[in-house]
Amino acid sequence: EKGGYDHFMLKEIHEQPRAIIDTFRGRLLRSEGIIKMSGVEDNMKKLLNADRIIIAACGTSWHAGLVAEYIFEEFARIPVEVEYASEFRYRNPVISEKDVLIAISQSGETADTLAAIKLAKSKGAFVFGVCNVVGSSIARETDAGAYTHAGPEIGVASTKAFTTQITVLALMALRLARAKGTMSSSKYRLYLQEIELIPAKIERLLKVDEKVKEIAEIYQHVPNCLYLGRGFNFPVALEGALKLKEISYIHAEGYPAAEMKHGPIALIDENMPVIVIATDSEHYEKIVSNIQEIKSRKGKIIAIVTEGDHVVKNLADHVIEIPYVEEAFSPLLTTIPLQLLSYHIAVMRGCNVDQPRNLAKSVTVE
Ligand code: M6R
Repeated sequence: EKGGYDHFMLKEIHEQPRAIIDTFRGRLLRSEGIIKMSGVEDNMKKLLNADRIIIAACGTSWHAGLVAEYIFEEFARIPVEVEYASEFRYRNPVISEKDVLIAISQSGETADTLAAIKLAKSKGAFVFGVCNVVGSSIARETDAGAYTHAGPEIGVASTKAFTTQITVLALMALRLARAKGTMSSSKYRLYLQEIELIPAKIERLLKVDEKVKEIAEIYQHVPNCLYLGRGFNFPVALEGALKLKEISYIHAEGYPAAEMKHGPIALIDENMPVIVIATDSEHYEKIVSNIQEIKSRKGKIIAIVTEGDHVVKNLADHVIEIPYVEEAFSPLLTTIPLQLLSYHIAVMRGCNVDQPRNLAKSVTVE
């Protein structure tokens, strides 16, 4: 049932190109230049009139929500707030009928996320669900939604659920951007083309596995690890750190790269590996100077770069290349080597990758 892979997690990492194609099915009609999502079409008015979107989720799904915040604001110019469901539900938040709540959950059974939905509904907000498990409690409780169609995710560490959640939310943002007129038609067409290419790019990227394994070999015994990213890739830094923590039990933290000088830089010495997402972006120069700061303190740099990069290549101790991609969709690629890195380190440390200690696949109690 593991399809020839040693673990479900590795199988599910490799399933991502297929899973994203399944997420596209019936929705991304690229040759016609349309995105069709019934949950969006049927509620277009509510979505377009929303004063803001509140995203509520936990764990990896919360990270997908953070990526979506950047994408929605950039594409559709709708203000977005991302909330830990557990904090939102107990905070007496200000919500009205003019708000849309998007709840993201792989299992559709997370207790805190379900409670956040009930609270938002009681205040009259429209609730949209992004779930993987069909017919789950959250899918039933929401007013409308879109399934990720990633297929069953067995490994406790979420992988393909994350990338398909981002895919669904990116499609939704593109659809709303077109309806609102916040994106030019040429840009829209470009993005449709770009998103359709993602599965093939992931397929190609998965070949970095051997390289990632070599890096894992070198760093498998470290006690700490830092992950840095900016913009669309700041949430990927958080997700990379969570993946390492939960399956290898190495302490890891993710930060927006520019926050480093507000504290975490004090941790850097020759024993601290820093994983930096330094792909092609509007902030490339800034990330290069962050890398220089780490280097001058003798930190070890593992950089995720875009194919053809020269500058970071000369500074970093190790580089992992990803295919070129529009920046907004880059989390779909940059997250892949980070999943592989945590997987290999966990295996080398003899950890139970698919069922890490103390963790359950879905957290149905608070
Ligand atoms: O099923 P959900 O997406 O609601 O689950 C949320 C989190 O419990 C989940 O993402 C958790 O953080 C994963 N173990 C992360 O890999």
